[in-house]
Amino acid sequence: MPIHSSDFGKEFTWGVASSAYQTEGAYLEDGKGLSVWDVFTRQAGKIKGGDNGNQGVHFYHRYIQDIILMQFLNVKNFRFSLSWPRLLPEGIGKPNEKGIDFYNAVIDFCLECGIEPWVTLYHWDLPQALEEKGGWTNRDVVHWFEDYVAFCIQQFGDRVRHWMVLNEPMAFTGAGYFLGLHAPGKKGLGNFLPAVHHASLSLAAGARTIKTLNHNLIVGSTFSCSPVDPVDRAVLSQEAAQRVDVLSNRLFIEPLLGLGYPWQDVKVLQGLERYMKAGDENLLKANLDFIGLQNYTREVVRHSTIMPYINARLVKAGKRNVPKTEMDWEIYPQGIYRVLKRFASYKGVDKIIITENGAAFNDVPVNGSVDDPQRIRFYEEYLAQVLKAKREGVNVQGYFAWSFTDNFEWAEGYSKRFGLVYVDYPTQRRIIKASGFWFQQFLQSRAQYLRAG
Ligand code: BGC
Repeated sequence: MPIHSSDFGKEFTWGVASSAYQTEGAYLEDGKGLSVWDVFTRQAGKIKGGDNGNQGVHFYHRYIQDIILMQFLNVKNFRFSLSWPRLLPEGIGKPNEKGIDFYNAVIDFCLECGIEPWVTLYHWDLPQALEEKGGWTNRDVVHWFEDYVAFCIQQFGDRVRHWMVLNEPMAFTGAGYFLGLHAPGKKGLGNFLPAVHHASLSLAAGARTIKTLNHNLIVGSTFSCSPVDPVDRAVLSQEAAQRVDVLSNRLFIEPLLGLGYPWQDVKVLQGLERYMKAGDENLLKANLDFIGLQNYTREVVRHSTIMPYINARLVKAGKRNVPKTEMDWEIYPQGIYRVLKRFASYKGVDKIIITENGAAFNDVPVNGSVDDPQRIRFYEEYLAQVLKAKREGVNVQGYFAWSFTDNFEWAEGYSKRFGLVYVDYPTQRRIIKASGFWFQQFLQSRAQYLRAG
């Protein structure tokens, strides 16, 4: 049975999501400082095709057209991030007036178009000036971050009600400070463990800062989450899956909820203790108004002695004969249901928003249009599972599609397209994909329902 947005109820929030580095471009314009991604992408061999976000999808210059397009698609909520180095070029100290003007203009124009801005404070683009002082491995980052958060709330908190503190801390610490696949390209436990601890402290400190400045603001943070299954029933596989689960799903949420780090289950995490100071257990805790879950797929895991510390390795979708996206991620709609049920069962998680969900496919324009039936099917199937969880009592109150337009997909460069709107990169022309028109219709049913009272 086809689902309708009205099935989710009147209060449900629908939106689209993006981030600063992936879309803005204008990386050296109007006084912006460099971010770790501006520098990392200069290194040969790091990004597919040698791509970088220098131009992004020109959101810095095209935000008016893009927000109008959003309005045309019946989108009423837009999740985007602020670029820390655009606002504070050195990370701390003197602000960049032009950066403030830009976000004021974006926020004001959204509101003028009837679109509610949902703002992420940190979506991975740390100011390079701070990385040179150790970045997330330096405990001072907690204070730098608090000051940056306070600055943003003072500037924009009068109009932006919904805030997200960090985007997917596991992704930027794991890929950026352990595997070296994302900026700043650091590797090893000696970088990863302090980065984890300081990101966790910053998450809680950021949330407290917002509430202290204005307790009416609605504060959340986003977490990547995927069910993790063993490749077979062998005990070794099951244990490997449990270890990956700790890292993928538990490492950041549990200390925030006051449960402490899950280090009894993955020995190597005991090294976190080295970075803890007296009183940190309490500083790691914070009450969020909502938890943002971002789900794309599930992970299937096998035991492996080759992988140090974790002794586990992912079995990619391509090796399992399952439906998959261009990212080689399994299309697994039940996954979003499973993570919703699971996170809802944590004491302290009262309200959940799906802050990202979507898929990359090989979109090709034909005669000026882009037909992407797989993406439509993906959204329908995942949304049906969100609805199922909601009907079973999970307090999920919103859903943001990733992404509004195609954009810079980190280490994959521009080769992977997640948008509801296609971007022709040489001309920057936008083409609404069939999935974009589908979303427009899907949201229309809600508009009719609201009008009907
Ligand atoms: C991130 C996005 C990214 C998407 C698809 C999420 O991990 O927040 O920035 O583009 O997944 O990989």
